[in-house]
Amino acid sequence: MSRITVNLPQNSYDIAIGEAGGQSSIASGNLSQLGLEMQQLNLGKKVLVISNPEIFNYYGDICVKSLEQAGFEVFTHLIPAGETYKHLGSIQQVYDTALNHHLERSSTFVALGGGVIGDMTGFAAATWLRGVNFVQVPTSLLAMVDASVGGKTGVNHPKGKNLIGAFYQPKLVLINPNVLKTLPVREFRAGMAEVIKYGIIWDKDLFEQLIAAEDLSCLEIIAPQLLETIITRSCQAKAEVVSKDEKESGLRAILNYGHTIGHAIESLTNYEQLVHGEAVAIGMVAAGKIAVKMGLWKADEGKLQDDLITKTGLPTAIPPQVTIEDILETVKSDKKVKAGKVRFILPTQIGNVIITDQVTPEIISQALKGN
Ligand code: GLY
Repeated sequence: MSRITVNLPQNSYDIAIGEAGGQSSIASGNLSQLGLEMQQLNLGKKVLVISNPEIFNYYGDICVKSLEQAGFEVFTHLIPAGETYKHLGSIQQVYDTALNHHLERSSTFVALGGGVIGDMTGFAAATWLRGVNFVQVPTSLLAMVDASVGGKTGVNHPKGKNLIGAFYQPKLVLINPNVLKTLPVREFRAGMAEVIKYGIIWDKDLFEQLIAAEDLSCLEIIAPQLLETIITRSCQAKAEVVSKDEKESGLRAILNYGHTIGHAIESLTNYEQLVHGEAVAIGMVAAGKIAVKMGLWKADEGKLQDDLITKTGLPTAIPPQVTIEDILETVKSDKKVKAGKVRFILPTQIGNVIITDQVTPEIISQALKGN
């Protein structure tokens, strides 16, 4: 098992990453260490495991047994799968369960699932009794490399995604790469979009290892060692960025590479046509074109990025029904707009990006139209 520490002024924590593939079955992997890992953190006796029925069916027993063997008293709360349940009504139900079982300040909420479960569990943990302990056991690639690390928690408002939330760091992130075997391929690729993002914004060596791989379009094709590299280096990149800027007052915004136009496309297709990672992939291609158009980035590096995205089985083109005019209108209302100016994260070389508010609508339009 490898460990990465997210170093913070208060409440630093470890990301514990198990071995991928080989003889290690899921049962013998680090999920069965969850109880012992949590025991070492001196947490209270009561634990509430929050998951969705499908994930709990796969991995619930092993986690609950491990916790019970380590002396914890375990309760569970299941939320139906899907973004449509990511609202305050579901959080209210978590509070009801916590109340019924008399969870205390020293108790711990464990998120067993993907990004939706992680975000909701973190938000419930941040607010129940003004904050109880929180542990992340991510089961999707996107949650492993992005959502479970860094303490962004929250739920959707009927008028927008993640508008209600809190920064609230977990005490531990425990990753077992082998649980990805039950992840649908489309979700795997969506997670890979965030991995490619780390290569572009932070880690040239990771990018080069991805380029060197023949095919990245599904888990079965990826060598266990490369999978471990993908997860470990992505978590390392995220941990380094978050350690330098926990609350996104500056540097952390680079994690939004590809997200400005990505979010606009997600919203313009009513969150129905594309999963988040697919929209980010299209957004990275668009941001790359803008960077090249502005003379910030070499065209051949932009092409390397786009080829990598294609090799991963992710889309690169803006859906035909979305017009550039719609995109321009929508980016103006992005959550990350600051003082009325749209901020873009643009690459200058592989492994390095800048944050700029100098991208005009004309540049976006020309870059996306290929003029
Ligand atoms: N997913 C972007 C961030 O955690 O800041």
